[in-house]
Amino acid sequence: MQHCLERGHHVIVHYRSSREEADAWLGQHTALKKRAHFLQAELADDPAGIIRAAGRLTGGLGGLINNASLFSPGNGADAEHLRRLLTVNTIVPLMLARGFAHVVKKGWIVNITDAHCAAPSARFENYRLSKMLLNEFTLRCARNMAPRIRVNAIAPGAVLPAKGDEGATFKALAKNIPLKKTTSIASLLMALEFLIDNPDVTGQILYVDGGWHLTDTEHSRAR
Ligand SMILES: NC(=O)c1ccc[n+]([C@@H]2O[C@H](COP(=O)([O-])OP(=O)(O)OC[C@H]3O[C@@H](n4cnc5c(N)ncnc54)[C@H](OP(=O)(O)O)[C@@H]3O)[C@@H](O)[C@H]2O)c1
Repeated sequence: MQHCLERGHHVIVHYRSSREEADAWLGQHTALKKRAHFLQAELADDPAGIIRAAGRLTGGLGGLINNASLFSPGNGADAEHLRRLLTVNTIVPLMLARGFAHVVKKGWIVNITDAHCAAPSARFENYRLSKMLLNEFTLRCARNMAPRIRVNAIAPGAVLPAKGDEGATFKALAKNIPLKKTTSIASLLMALEFLIDNPDVTGQILYVDGGWHLTDTEHSRAR
């Protein structure tokens, strides 16, 4: 939000329950506040309705970032868990993208996937599969929505520790990453800016991960 507002965009911040951080930041940056719009919704309820409501807030949409996700351990033994992760991480982004393409003449979509979803994972298999499928949909949508809508993805590496990880496990990850470091938010924002601005780029999965996707490190040791 912060980065896009500073670049002059109107930003619709969709949230389900966490609004406090954005509010606190806007409280200190009142000049930018008039271009920030909030939209509260459970994503799985009515994705097309969210796009319509977003359009009404600003009078038109130019871009869509699919960032919300569920990250929790689970594998094929838990079909209900797989259903929930596929809904939020894969099907909702696809439905938002379709709703967006329906109402926008020319624009861009950036899906946030995950760099480390190629290697099998014993604990996070359902999450991994949901993000792999989102990668696949990114490519298909790029093909199907051209020339009006450019569709790309950012595949972040290890950016933030998972809840409950005191930091030690997360820090230890760096030694298995080719560039020997975890990924900064600043690097992700550079990637986002590139994908928003470059009019010739569509159908890219941009790995911002220090080369982590080139390794077979177990995902369960990630966030
Ligand atoms: N953190 C990392 O190191 C890392 C690494 C690789 C990829 N990624 C990807 O980067 C993105 C952001 O990561 P993150 O760690 O910031 O994500 P996160 O904290 O796990 O989740 C982001 C937000 O998704 C929203 N959300 C989840 N289910 C929802 C639902 N059913 N309806 C509406 N909102 C829902 C939640 O909003 P509320 O809080 O408002 O409920 C949550 O704050 C994700 O797509 C993630 O897979 C992150």
